[in-house]
Amino acid sequence: METKWIKMLEDKPDMVAVKEAGHIIKKGGLVAFPTETVYGLGGDGLNQEASQKIYAAKGRPSDNPLIIHIADRGDLKRLVKEMPAKAEQLADAFWPGPLTMIFQKSDEVPWETTGGLSTVAVRFPNHPVALAFIKESGGFVAAPSANTSGRPSPTLGSHVYEDLQGKIEMLLDSGEVGIGIESTIIDMTVEPPMILRPGFITEEMLSEVIGSIAVDKTTQKQMAGMAPKAPGMKYRHYAPKGELTIVSGSGQEVKDRINMLLKAAKEKGLRTGVIGTEENMEFYHADIKMNAGKKADELTAARRLYGILREFDEKQVDVIYSEAFPGTGVGQAVMNRLLKAAGHKVIQAGQRGEKDDSNR
Ligand code: TXA
Ligand code: MG
Repeated sequence: METKWIKMLEDKPDMVAVKEAGHIIKKGGLVAFPTETVYGLGGDGLNQEASQKIYAAKGRPSDNPLIIHIADRGDLKRLVKEMPAKAEQLADAFWPGPLTMIFQKSDEVPWETTGGLSTVAVRFPNHPVALAFIKESGGFVAAPSANTSGRPSPTLGSHVYEDLQGKIEMLLDSGEVGIGIESTIIDMTVEPPMILRPGFITEEMLSEVIGSIAVDKTTQKQMAGMAPKAPGMKYRHYAPKGELTIVSGSGQEVKDRINMLLKAAKEKGLRTGVIGTEENMEFYHADIKMNAGKKADELTAARRLYGILREFDEKQVDVIYSEAFPGTGVGQAVMNRLLKAAGHKVIQAGQRGEKDDSNR
């Protein structure tokens, strides 16, 4: 299959292409499309064969449920058994936007789409191309992130093309996404509602609207004998091919420790990389240096992270050291993804050896 790659402006969807894309979805095919978080790999969410095709194209285990994307809040009632009052409040506050909510699924949602679960994840994205495409597709687009399973989520059309060319009919490309990490996921079927994946919409923002919120602890720490509640979070994601380690601690100590580690790696003949904040970049002695933005700018770190991880693969870097990012606001989501990418390998600068945070 030849993948048709169509470029357009984010705020001016090319309606000829979008209509063609919608037609493909209605016939059971697959189309990748931009959202405000990351690119999605879309298929008809109410068509079980389309969901099976999505798993196959991504190389994803089929017990890992998909998010159904809608473009009209009224369409939610076809997908869910009931709409809790708190979900209405969150939808008022954050939809359309980077928030996914989990509900008891209606009979109309195929088991293939939910990976066999009796719950369904729903998101109403805020992106002109996504919304136009979902409408033309019949209103219910199941979509995981449009990467090959295990690779970083795509923040550019070219990332999608790299991973999925020849496996999908079409790619709608409107350039770089705005946020760069996946939506916040909150489970509305439990009380208090529980965050299963941190994202741009933070715990503080959610609890301002509905009060008490629980957080799945596995999102911040590896917990022995405890599986994450979002099935997809258990996989080692986003891992670059090179070995990634996070170095945390205070300013100068981190810089010194990273440089020591880089030096040791170079002496072994390894190709080295570093992920650092803009203020520290010039200080590092690595083969490839990637700038995640200014220290206090978590939004830029979020937008750049996945592109940076992909670039290390392209440049065939063997070992990578990264500064830690502040675990507040969106920084929490950035740290969650970075920890997963590093397989939870953290070195505490100023101490000897590796910190084991796996709770054994
Ligand atoms: O920002 C996003 O959410 C992007 C864009 C494309 O919308 N999508 C995305 O989808 O990140 P995906 O499939 O890569 O991640 C969805 C996560 C997985 O970890 C999955 O296990 C979890 O959501 N999930 C989906 N349905 C669930 C359910 N019913 N219960 C618990 N977790 C669920
Ligand atoms: Mg994903």
